[in-house]
Amino acid sequence: MELIYENSFVTDSDIKKLSKRIQDIHNMINDRTGEGSDFLGWVNLEYDKDEIERIKTCANKIRRDSDYLVVIGIGGSYLGARAVIEALSHSFRQKNVLFAGNNMSPDYLNDLLEFIGDSDFSINVISKSGTTTEPAIAFSIFKQKLIEKYGAEEARNRIYVTTDREKGLLKKEAIEENYESFTVPDNIGGRYSVLTPVGLLPIAVAGINIDSLMLGALQAMQKYENLPDNEAYTYAIIRNTLLKKGKNIELMVNYEPKLHYFTEWWKQLFGESEGKDGKGIFPAGVDNTADLHSMGQYIQDGQKILFETVIDIENPYRDYKVPAQKSVELDFLTGKSLNEVNHMAMEGTIKAHVDGEVPNILIKIEKLDEFNLGWLIYFFEKACAVSGYLLGVNPFNQPGVEAYKSEMFKLLGK
Ligand code: PA5
Repeated sequence: MELIYENSFVTDSDIKKLSKRIQDIHNMINDRTGEGSDFLGWVNLEYDKDEIERIKTCANKIRRDSDYLVVIGIGGSYLGARAVIEALSHSFRQKNVLFAGNNMSPDYLNDLLEFIGDSDFSINVISKSGTTTEPAIAFSIFKQKLIEKYGAEEARNRIYVTTDREKGLLKKEAIEENYESFTVPDNIGGRYSVLTPVGLLPIAVAGINIDSLMLGALQAMQKYENLPDNEAYTYAIIRNTLLKKGKNIELMVNYEPKLHYFTEWWKQLFGESEGKDGKGIFPAGVDNTADLHSMGQYIQDGQKILFETVIDIENPYRDYKVPAQKSVELDFLTGKSLNEVNHMAMEGTIKAHVDGEVPNILIKIEKLDEFNLGWLIYFFEKACAVSGYLLGVNPFNQPGVEAYKSEMFKLLGK
């Protein structure tokens, strides 16, 4: 992975100004002395061989006995798995992992039940707290469907629970019913949990190589554990500097539709970690080139409050040559590789946006595979923690999400 930025919008002196603060944050993370440091478990990522083997064994069993795995979870208990599965799967082939419990739409639920129909399925209910409303509702529905279809005993064999080590309703039920269970480590919050069983079980069921994903993340961990030449820290400094210069919104930009949910995962990571105490960059995203024909107008020409972080995948798995064009106006495209055209669109857009006072940061990866995704996940997690501390907030809590819940519970008569 390579991080490229123009030093016209963030200068060496901007970076120097924050170097003492970065040194302090680096120590704070390593010594576990900052706010929320009980949730720094993801920093020292571990490859737990036994647990990975158990995940693979369960994934193989699910693949053998089910057409679909319904993954029930929301927020950090949902987006990481979806991001990786969408990024590494065929764009059009039906995936064997389906998602529920991330909304409360009756139409979504009915469509999903109808789609599953008579197919064999298992469920993986994921909730660290074990009490979140959306997954709790979906779990009760899908559990009932399993019991109706297979009977109580076999239903039990098709329920996989990922939750807290000891607390919560879900843990209690998992013990009582003897469900196969995985633990969300105490010291890892939802949005930092994709590289734990929260993400790894569904990802493995989708047929994705979780060893390579972990390897990428582990190598990123080594790369970003030291202070000098730390691109995760540089990214955090750039964001912080741009915010101070009035750039309040960051757009994650891709030129590969498979990255749509990676952006959703990233939005949660940064939005929930930084948006508090009246502070924070608003994280948003665009899928190019589609969004250049909609949001492109605003980005180029609207309020100068945006900056962009572009993910550039250098090599596609398969390229395609543009056929000979009959019209003279389109002849310049004849014989060009689609990857080249896509890249020229990216480079042209970056140039135009930078000229239009929208700073661009470029993150280059060689190809979209498990290794590079694992690397990116760790990179963004580390950068997010540093960025949150630079901003002066606790990057690991989410007090703001309670407000809607208490209003909703009042209305529901809880
Ligand atoms: O990052 C977080 O902590 C949250 O987004 C949670 O993941 C989300 O609210 C779901 O919580 P739980 O796993 O307890 O159901």
